[in-house]
This record gives sequence, C-alpha cells and structure tokens, in this order.
Amino acid sequence: MRREHSSELNSEDIKACEDSEFLSPTPSMITSFSFLLLTAALVHAQPSPEVQKRISAAIAAAANESNPDYTTFVNPFIGTDNFGDVCPGASIPFGMVKFSTDLTGYAPAGYVTDPTQTIRGLSPLHDSGTGSSLGTYGNFEIMPMTCPEGFETCATKLVDRETFRKNNTDDASPGYFSQTLDNGIKMEATSTRRAGLERFTFPQGSKPYFVLDLSNDLPNSFAGGTMNIDPQKGRITIGGSWGSSFGPTSFNYQAFACYDLLNNGNQTLDEYGVWQGNPYGLDSKAKSQTLLNQTRNLIGDHYEYGALFSYSGTPSEIIIRVGISFVSSDQACANAESEVGTSSFDDIMAQSRALWNEKLSSIQIDLANTPANVTEMLYSSLYRASLTPNNATGETQAAFSGTSSPYFDSLYCSWDTFRTFYPLMALQHPQDYAQIVENYIDGWRKLGWMPECRANNLPGYTQGGSSGDVIVGHFAINYHNEAAALGVNLNDLYSAMLADGELNPFEWDIQGRQVNLYKEFGYVPFDIVDATSTGRQTREGSRTLEYVFEDFSIRQVSLLLNNSANENAYFNRSMASPSCCPSLHLQFERSLVRYPNGTFAFTDPTDCSPQDKNDSRSCSLQGSNEVGFYESSSWEYSWFAPHDTNGLIELMGGNATFVKRLDHFFDAGYYLAGNEPSFQTPIGYHYANQPAKSVQRVRQVVFENFDITPAGLPGNDDQAAMASLLSFHLLGLYPVPGTSQFLILSPFTPNYTIHNTYLNTATTITTHGFDPKSVQANIPKGAAAYVKSVTVNGVELATKCHFDFYDVFRKGGQVDIEVTADMDEGNDCGTAVPESLSTGGFATVR
Ligand SMILES: *[C@@H]1O[C@H](CO)[C@@H](O)[C@H](O)[C@H]1NC(C)=O
Ligand SMILES: *[C@@H]1O[C@H](CO)[C@@H](O)[C@H](O)[C@H]1NC(C)=O
Ligand SMILES: *[C@@H]1O[C@H](CO)[C@@H](O)[C@H](O)[C@H]1NC(C)=O
Ligand SMILES: *[C@@H]1O[C@H](CO)[C@@H](O)[C@H](O)[C@H]1NC(C)=O
Ligand SMILES: *[C@@H]1O[C@H](CO)[C@@H](O)[C@H](O)[C@H]1NC(C)=O
Ligand SMILES: *[C@@H]1O[C@H](CO)[C@@H](O)[C@H](O)[C@H]1NC(C)=O
Ligand SMILES: *[C@@H]1O[C@H](CO)[C@@H](O)[C@H](O)[C@H]1NC(C)=O
Ligand SMILES: *[C@@H]1O[C@H](CO)[C@@H](O)[C@H](O)[C@H]1NC(C)=O
Ligand SMILES: *[C@@H]1O[C@H](CO)[C@@H](O)[C@H](O)[C@H]1NC(C)=O
Ligand SMILES: *[C@@H]1O[C@H](CO)[C@@H](O)[C@H](O)[C@H]1NC(C)=O
Ligand SMILES: *[C@@H]1O[C@H](CO)[C@@H](O)[C@H](O)[C@H]1NC(C)=O
Ligand SMILES: *[C@@H]1O[C@H](CO)[C@@H](O)[C@H](O)[C@H]1NC(C)=O
Repeated sequence: MRREHSSELNSEDIKACEDSEFLSPTPSMITSFSFLLLTAALVHAQPSPEVQKRISAAIAAAANESNPDYTTFVNPFIGTDNFGDVCPGASIPFGMVKFSTDLTGYAPAGYVTDPTQTIRGLSPLHDSGTGSSLGTYGNFEIMPMTCPEGFETCATKLVDRETFRKNNTDDASPGYFSQTLDNGIKMEATSTRRAGLERFTFPQGSKPYFVLDLSNDLPNSFAGGTMNIDPQKGRITIGGSWGSSFGPTSFNYQAFACYDLLNNGNQTLDEYGVWQGNPYGLDSKAKSQTLLNQTRNLIGDHYEYGALFSYSGTPSEIIIRVGISFVSSDQACANAESEVGTSSFDDIMAQSRALWNEKLSSIQIDLANTPANVTEMLYSSLYRASLTPNNATGETQAAFSGTSSPYFDSLYCSWDTFRTFYPLMALQHPQDYAQIVENYIDGWRKLGWMPECRANNLPGYTQGGSSGDVIVGHFAINYHNEAAALGVNLNDLYSAMLADGELNPFEWDIQGRQVNLYKEFGYVPFDIVDATSTGRQTREGSRTLEYVFEDFSIRQVSLLLNNSANENAYFNRSMASPSCCPSLHLQFERSLVRYPNGTFAFTDPTDCSPQDKNDSRSCSLQGSNEVGFYESSSWEYSWFAPHDTNGLIELMGGNATFVKRLDHFFDAGYYLAGNEPSFQTPIGYHYANQPAKSVQRVRQVVFENFDITPAGLPGNDDQAAMASLLSFHLLGLYPVPGTSQFLILSPFTPNYTIHNTYLNTATTITTHGFDPKSVQANIPKGAAAYVKSVTVNGVELATKCHFDFYDVFRKGGQVDIEVTADMDEGNDCGTAVPESLSTGGFATVR
C-alpha cells in the first residue's frame, strides 16, 4: 500500500485513494503491517532510546510535585509509525510552522521512524495526523551537507542529496525537534507561530554547505515560483504555488519563506548560487546567480530548483532564521523579525515550552498514583489535541484575503474531529474553540458553505456530509452564554448551519451534502440520476446516517434559538422518517443502502470490517467503493445514532438483544479501532443499562489499540481525533457531540482536575477505591473498576451513567466516583440511562 512520491500518481483517482484513513480498513493489511512492525522492532529503535528514558524519569521524579513541567511527559513520537502520520516537529500550540524533517517513502507528515527511509531535508510547514499518501506540505526544505570537493560537487537534487539518519538519534519534545544525519551533521529546530530557528552542528573542520529547495514539496505539486538571493543581507526569499494534498488538484495555494543566513552578523556567507535538475541527467549549478523565476511546467516533467550556499571558515555551528507567510515574502520576513528577532535558539525554545506547559496544565492528574504509561499517553494526547489546526490568522489568501476573522488551516477533516476533538477543546479551552468556530462560520460567509476538510488552505474532500454543523452546534449548545464575548455571532452560526441543511451545493464533494436527493427521499438513494449537483455517488448508507446526525445538531440549535418551525422540521429529519433510518439500522445484516424505490441493495455487512478477507476492496473515498459505507462496515455504522441509541435498541429488539449483538460484534472482531465511526461503539452498553460492560470494552479498546510507542495508534491520528478519543477514555468520560451530555465511565487515574481556562472553573474528579490493577485490557476479578456511585458537589446522582456540562464543568467543584469490583453492582445506571431522542431526551437545552 505504500506509495512513492511521483508525478504519475498525482491524478484525481489516485488522490481519492489517498484519503486519510485509506490505509487502515482491511484486516489483511493490518496483519501485514503488524508483521512489518514486529520485524522492524527487532532491527531498529527510532527515536533515540533516550527519549523514553527521559520521559519515564520525568514522570517518576514528578510524582510528588504540585507544579510539574507537563511538557516533560509528552512523547511527540507516538503515532509516527504504523501509519499514525503524526508530525513530531517543533511547533507551538496550533503553530502554523511545524519544523520536521521530510523522509522518503510513505510519510504524509514528513517524518517517519522507518530507518530504511532517507532524509530529504528539514522544512517548516507540516500537518499532523493526516493520511494523504503523497504527503502534505514539506515546502522549503533545507539540507545541510559537507561538499569536500567544493560547490560544484554538492548534491542538490532530491535523489542525490537524500541521506540516511544516524540511527537512534532522533529527538523531540514540545517546541523542539532534532535529527542527525549519518554523516554526523546535527539538525535542530524550534519555532514561534510563523517563524523559527534552525541550528546545525557540523563535524569539526568541515565547511558548511546548504541546499535550499524552491520547488519540491511532499505531494510534488509545484505550480511555479520565485527565489531571490540577497548576498549582502544574507537573505533568501521564496514564493510559489503548490497544490492540495486532499482535494482537487486543479486548485493551488501560495506560500512564502524568508531565510536569514547570517545569525545577526555572526556568520559570513561564502559561495552562493542557484541550481536546476531533472530525473534525466540535468543537474546544473549557476554560481553567483541570485534569481530563479519559474512558472508551472505545462508538459508535466519533474524539474527541481533551488539555492546552494556555503559559509566562510569551518564554524561548527550555523543558525538560520526562518519566517513563513501565506501572503507575501515581505510578510514572511516581517514574521521572522517580529516573532524571533535576535532571540537565541534557547530563548525561543523556552518560550514554546512555556506555551505548551500552560496548555497542558489545564488537566492535572495524581501523578504518584497513576500508571506511568497512562500519564504519558494522556499528556502526549493532550499535546496533539492542541497541535492542529494550524493557526494562520493574518495569513489569508484568495476568498479569505484580509478577513477580520481568525483563520485556521488543516481542518483535516471535520468528519474526524466533530466526535471527540472539539468536545475535548470545549471542556478546557473555549477561547481556542471559539476562534475555530468563527473560522468555520467565516467559511460560510466567504464561500457559501462551511469548510469540511480545508487542507493547504484549499477545500478538501467531503467525507460524511457537513460535519461542521456538529462542530459549531456543539459550541453553541455549550457556550451560547459566552458566544458574543468570545467573538462568535450565534445568528451567523445558525445561518451557516441552515445553509448546510437546506442549500444544494453544485459540487458536494467539497461543499457538503447531496441535499436535494436527501430531502426528497429522506435518505441518500443508490443508483439514481442527480440532475442538479455533482459528486462521487458512493457511501450512500454512511452519508445518510451522518446527515441525520448533522440534522440533530441543527435541531438542537433551533431549540436553543427558539425557532420552533425549524426545531420541528429538524426533529423529524434527525429522528429520520420511518422510510429512512430505523430501517437503515435494522437492515444492517444485509446492507443499509437503498434504491430510490426503497429496496435495500445487498452488500455483505462484514465488507470493510477487520474480518473482510478481500485485500483489494475499496473502503474509502475511491470511486470504486461499492459497499455504501465510508471507512467502516455497515455492521459498524449500524450502531451509529449517538443521539438516539435507545431508538436503535428498540428497533433491534430490546436491551438483551442489543447487548448480545454488541458483544458478538466485538467478540467476532468486527470492531475497527482505526476509523472514527467506531468511536462511540464501546459505550453503547450504557444505553442498554449495562454500564459495567462499557467500562470493560473501553479498557480493552485502549490497551489493544494504543500505547506509548511510535506504533501506538491504531490508524491516522486524523488531526488528533484519535488523541482526543484516548484522552476521554483515560479520563473516564465520553461526550455526546452536539449536546452538553457526558457519559460517565471509569477513569484510568484516581484523581484529576480539569481547569476551564475561560470560565475559570476547576473540577476535580476523584475515584474512590481506584485499583491500578484494573488498568489493563482485561479487568481482573477482584479489581475495582465498575462505577457504584457518582456524587457531584456532595449530592449523589440518581443516575450514575451521565451528567451534564452545565451541572459539572461549568460550575466546577468536586465529583466523587466510587468504584467496585462487583460487576453486577456497577452494571446499572440507576433511575435513567443517558438521553435519546425517541425516548424524549434532549427536549431542552441549557
Ligand atoms: C540504521 O538501521 C537500519 C535498520 O537496521 C539499517 O538498515 C541502516 O543501515 C542503519 N543506518 C545506519 C546509518 O547505520
Ligand atoms: C513521593 O512521596 C511518597 C510518600 O510521601 C514517597 O514514598 C515517595 O518516595 C515520593 N516519591 C518521590 C519521587 O519523591
Ligand atoms: C552575534 O553578534 C552580536 C553582535 O552583532 C553579539 O552581540 C552576539 O553575542 C553574537 N551572538 C552569538 C551567538 O555569537
Ligand atoms: C517572474 O516571471 C513572471 C512571468 O512569469 C513576471 O511577471 C515576473 O515579473 C518575474 N519576476 C521577476 C522577479 O523577475
Ligand atoms: C492565533 O493567532 C492569533 C494571532 O497571533 C492569536 O490572537 C490567537 O489567539 C491564536 N489562536 C490560537 C487558538 O492559538
Ligand atoms: C428562548 O426562549 C427562552 C424561554 O422563553 C428564553 O429564555 C430565551 O432567551 C430565548 N432565546 C432566544 C435566543 O431568543
Ligand atoms: C414532523 O412529523 C410529524 C409526525 O409525522 C408530523 O405531524 C409533523 O407535521 C412533522 N413536522 C414537520 C415540520 O415536518
Ligand atoms: C427496486 O429497484 C431495484 C434496482 O433497480 C430492483 O432490483 C428491485 O427489484 C426494485 N424493488 C422493487 C420492490 O421494485
Ligand atoms: C474484492 O473487492 C474488489 C473491489 O471491490 C472486487 O472487485 C473483487 O471482486 C473482490 N474479490 C473477491 C474475491 O470478492
Ligand atoms: C432498556 O433498559 C432500560 C433501563 O432498564 C429501560 O428503561 C428501557 O425501557 C429498556 N429498553 C427496552 C427497549 O426494553
Ligand atoms: C508500558 O508501555 C510499554 C510500551 O507499549 C509496554 O511495553 C509496557 O508493558 C507498558 N507497561 C505497563 C505497566 O503497562
Ligand atoms: C485530588 O486532587 C486535588 C487537587 O490536586 C487535591 O486537592 C485532593 O487532595 C486530591 N484528592 C485525593 C483524594 O487525592
């Protein structure tokens, strides 16, 4: 499944195959991947073993500290193997700049641990957690080298300059990234939001040379650009256009860089010039030439361009300052001047660490009594949960040029993030959340629909429909009292949601939903002429179920804003008319895809599940996906009705049948941890009044799929969708998106405090009877883990399966959870199970 970067692969069809989760679905793939991992683990250990030693020591030493440095618990390498596609690069929270090396092979985020891959260079722009197999960003690579035979002999083209790493030396921590080449040159980086410093250490006695790339990016999408060397200033500016990593290849974005080479006058430039190459022997250098100016190569050949320069003498250390902009090269230089200026590498790194520590300290746990792996998984996950999207405020282009709204890039994709990523942000950092929500709304203002998968500043492909509805709806439900103060206009928010629900886009592959047909039939039909809009007519079953849930979010906001007509209409749409969804869920044994005449089309429900033996089946965005579902089986999607699981239980024949079916689903191996439709499946037991079984399943899901190694994610992190899911699991909470409800599970840490940094509340959750022995895949007999009682600020809840954001985290205070080893005692919700629409739930908003 590994795809090499090559221009031939850059076609629309291949792009579609390169969707973010394409690599996780089938079991045979999973098996062969784990085999690879197993064999690879024997021969290499990336990153440096010192990284884990340092983290373990920090966790042990912090046991009794009340004010620890949380950044020392973070392992940025989790998810850099096994197709997690995490970027371990140096970044501040939501940094637009993420410095990482770019490696050959399958490396969408630039870096991968695989030691058989070589390093192309160090570069400032990356996304994290996305699975586009050609990769995303990677522009402006710089590569240090020694050219013992001089300028003319330097290896400038990618294939020539690529170098192995020195094994077991890769290092990273929040705000810092480092890798050493096998020739002994060490590369380090640290960053601000739009700029940073690179530090290179050369072997003694060697003259430092550098190649700086104008054209190459990871997806090989150069569409023209210029490069200017100013030898007096010691400054190289670059500007150009490149293409999307997960969207139509016909669109381009612009990006700019400013490289300052003199370290405030402490370094002296020697030779400089430009170079050009192609795969067929062209490999030329033009010494002392200072300009490159190229347009898109229309015949399609792969030409590469860049600069080459050296320093006087044999200094062992070279510092290079880098500024980035999406507006102009002048702005890129101004960003470097204002954000870095003359600060030292260590100062910038200390600033970045401080920002991270502030972010991470909003959740504090009892370090002495929490298993060390849980501490590391939790803080590494919280770290990634603030790594993206990339804050490009003030760096806008095209339709967003000069917008007064905050602006974020890499909303990659909403279908991944609405489930847990934004609910986690809502818990702690509403001011970050509000900026991103306003940015979604601004997308509607500028383009008519909210973004579904903005990648590289360009529209990316729709996965489920208009999942942005749930993202902004969740904000409105939880923070409508603060919305105005946080810069969010609720009327605009609502108009943006209604546009998604009502207006048929011309091209719903990038704009959202196939609204007309969905409204006409009450579901997305299979095998029908769509005369008025364009899109890839696949995934009818999963799109229907996602549209229905998006409609539930619109219903909740209609309720909030007292729009009773819409409340009524969207209630009906989210309950789904009898012709639609009840039958959809019920028919899961056959398929959930329907013809326009209502008949279900047959596909096997195990297709695209981990039990699917067909290696070549298309389960993702490919045009050849024939199963009717996206990145999941119809089995998995048959559980998806987060707002009406009790309706589902009723249809499936009652609690006992539902539980039996859910057990079978897990026990037969149909559960696919690596993709998002599975996120809420393990907590389904709560709705059948068997919460202890949810506790067991969550322990199992965590320990069978997540750990602290680079291969410690079950699939693409998906802009930290996985990270935020894991965070909730470890904290013993599960959010119902688009509502203020949390399901209560069994925490993996005995005592933690969540600080809401805007509301200024602190909520401490203490688990009485916590047994560290229960923190493993199978809870042993006698280990307390099942929830016996829940008390909020001294008042015991009559129902111990759920509580509300307004009653708990908005108020702050103390939550006491008592756990028992007696599963039967813990297997009961008390007076009510969590809410469902068809049993009268979600009737009011707070
Ligand atoms: C690093 O380790 C890999 C795997 O063992 C090996 O193939 C490679 O040659 C090593 N690289 C160096 C520079 O030693
Ligand atoms: C933390 O405190 C406990 C008890 O107060 C003590 O036994 C333990 O050694 C301390 N750990 C560290 C790392 O200081
Ligand atoms: C660089 O030069 C400035 C004076 O231009 C000096 O103050 C500073 O200490 C030097 N920095 C380093 C790292 O050598
Ligand atoms: C680069 O070429 C474009 C035409 O392709 C031209 O408009 C522009 O002025 C040139 N820039 C420089 C710096 O020569
Ligand atoms: C994004 O950057 C802007 C400009 O520096 C800043 O005001 C804002 O707080 C940042 N947002 C986040 C979520 O970091
Ligand atoms: C909706 O109605 C409730 C109850 O009458 C009222 O408290 C609330 O302010 C109204 N909200 C809006 C947005 O009009
Ligand atoms: C919603 O459905 C109910 C029951 O089928 C129907 O009576 C009502 O008119 C519908 N409301 C709207 C706004 O469609
Ligand atoms: C509905 O349409 C499908 C596809 O054309 C066809 O196979 C099926 O027999 C039809 N069902 C009915 C009840 O007409
Ligand atoms: C496997 O799936 C592909 C693509 O859907 C299909 O063409 C092929 O017939 C399937 N192979 C088997 C053995 O079912
Ligand atoms: C499932 O159990 C709950 C709690 O005991 C009960 O309220 C509900 O009616 C049951 N559901 C069905 C469909 O029997
Ligand atoms: C911690 O994680 C590592 C790596 O996955 C694993 O080898 C080790 O067994 C785990 N330790 C515990 C106590 O679970
Ligand atoms: C839980 O943590 C809070 C805040 O750190 C602390 O005040 C409290 O004593 C802890 N409770 C227990 C039972 O450890």
